[in-house]
Amino acid sequence: MVSDGLLFPAPEDWAGKAHIDAAGYEAAVARVQSDPEGYWRDLAARLDWIKAPTKIKDVSYAKEDFRIRWFEDGVLNVSANCIDRHLPHRKDDVALIFEGDEPGVSDKITYGQLHDQVCRMANVLKDLGARKGDRITIYLPMVPVAAVAMLACARIGAIHSVVFGGFSPDSIAGRIQDCDSRLVITADQGCRGGKKVPLKANIDEALEQCPQVEKVLLVRWTGADVPVVEGRDVVWNDVRDAASPVCEPEPMNAEDPLFILYTSGSTGKPKGVLHTTGGYLAWASWTFEAVFDYRPGEVFWCTADVGWVTGHSYVVYGPLANGGTSLIFEGVPNYPTPSRFWDVVDKHKVEIFYTAPTALRALMREGDEHVLKNDLSSLRLLGSVGEPINPEAWLWYHRVVGKDRLPIVDTWWQTETGGILVSPLPGATALKPGSATKPLPGVKLQLVDAEGAVLEGATEGNLVITDSWPGQMRTVYGDHQRFFETYFSTYPGKYFTGDGCKRDADGYYWITGRVDDVINVSGHRLGTAEIESALVAHEAVAEAAVVGYPHDIKGQGVYAYVTLKADATPSEELRKQLVLWVRHEIGPFAAPDVLQWAPGLPKTRSGKIMRRILRKIAENAVDALGDTSTLADPSVVDDLVRNRAGAK
Ligand code: PRX
Repeated sequence: MVSDGLLFPAPEDWAGKAHIDAAGYEAAVARVQSDPEGYWRDLAARLDWIKAPTKIKDVSYAKEDFRIRWFEDGVLNVSANCIDRHLPHRKDDVALIFEGDEPGVSDKITYGQLHDQVCRMANVLKDLGARKGDRITIYLPMVPVAAVAMLACARIGAIHSVVFGGFSPDSIAGRIQDCDSRLVITADQGCRGGKKVPLKANIDEALEQCPQVEKVLLVRWTGADVPVVEGRDVVWNDVRDAASPVCEPEPMNAEDPLFILYTSGSTGKPKGVLHTTGGYLAWASWTFEAVFDYRPGEVFWCTADVGWVTGHSYVVYGPLANGGTSLIFEGVPNYPTPSRFWDVVDKHKVEIFYTAPTALRALMREGDEHVLKNDLSSLRLLGSVGEPINPEAWLWYHRVVGKDRLPIVDTWWQTETGGILVSPLPGATALKPGSATKPLPGVKLQLVDAEGAVLEGATEGNLVITDSWPGQMRTVYGDHQRFFETYFSTYPGKYFTGDGCKRDADGYYWITGRVDDVINVSGHRLGTAEIESALVAHEAVAEAAVVGYPHDIKGQGVYAYVTLKADATPSEELRKQLVLWVRHEIGPFAAPDVLQWAPGLPKTRSGKIMRRILRKIAENAVDALGDTSTLADPSVVDDLVRNRAGAK
């Protein structure tokens, strides 16, 4: 491996200045061990509580008394924590910087202005009938009003469910139905890479399947002429000025839900991951400060969309809970040129930059000159999230963007974890390219084998977590049983992450990727089962099996094996049609990169598809197929190998 033996010590000039240095890390690890109650109580004290919690932690992962509760008698409001409490000393400080898809479009929103907008929208939501506990679906572009909408929900105690703007009408409809939203917030269109995204048209199509939706709050963003449904749609821009800028924040119990975010699992339809108020915010807030060594006044830029958890925790809640300045970028890394990220860094003097390996790999391929023409001297810390960062991309990021001097925090976490769990602390941890390094204080990791035996020392296994942290998800919305079964039944008494992981002799963790049927395509999490069910919904398809395969830029690509019905004939045209079909059914990012016709799929005698074999064929590791003799019909494998599509 290119990074073998490479170690980048924490910069010397950070010693004594960082929020947490090496001694601070050791002290925190020791304290959470010896005095967990005190440690977690202090962590909660960073929030502004209406009533401070006296009950700190009440957790059992055991089946008979399964429960996860943090700070359960505390009372607070998330929007008050993210806005109101900063007003006395930071009213005129910038909360959000906006950079539009087109260079030249930008804006700044102070904490005072954010307060005004959030209160007005909160009042409009109330006028539209929204109450504490209601679910509100948000389908907006990456623009400041998306943060305003989330915070307005939090202000009145409504539970938001943000749906990424790349999802199709069918995917939106499924998410609206699952959590029974009566109210949807959307925009006429979004802008990405010079193209318009038809958000309102997608919502109108989705709502044909969602009769329970009573109201749509429509944000005019591009100003496109979109239909406004009489009696259902209300235009935000028309009602905003008349709405009152005063809205008292709703007192919420720490364990009241804050949001639902749908994510893909290995089986069935996407799960509504539910996060609650106190624990989630405490964890998002603390990890933001600790991992990014953040100080108010600094410009922080996380390039993730608010439609994903990274956008929730590190575009909106983490930065704002710390009184920080968060940059919201509407566009894409390579529009209008591959220098766009770096132009934005220079323009807004970004100090901390947090992005995904897939973007770095794509930009790396464009050549160093697109980075080197920029100054970038404002940067002091870089971050990575969403998928394993290959050492080549890490070293490029470090050398070309970081000028060999900036630390990189490779942060491992999941939608389910609410915030970062494994990451370097930049003033404390020596870095190894490709390793997320060590767990944060209070995070208890183990590696186990397939049977659950605990593996010690330098080893490789499945990553589990043996105890709770405040930001942990609390349930799958509407299906608590599924929550338990998915995460706590594989290894009883432990949370199973779904990731494989190595631990080296220094105790560093190296995430190797998912060990279940979840794939990570350009940092987007997808269940292979979802793509399969989209494919079989097509009239020509009898059966489909989807696996991931290594892809230079995307990390993983989507490889689909499709068995057609007897009356359908394979053709280039049908192949294209099926790829388009998946784009339309789920969203463009789920479209198969490779689609191979499969007259038969390798199945065991009991009818289970042997995905291991399909993965090996997709990876072109046809010499490593292993034992195929247990298959019902071993000859199908020969056919698949012979006709293997040229996966790149
Ligand atoms: O496989 C891990 C990978 O992304 C999965 C979680 O995806 P999602 O819920 O969409 O959240 C992504 C953003 C937090 C994990 O199970 N993953 C995330 N971060 C890393 C990672 N794999 C390796 N290194 C990381 N830093």
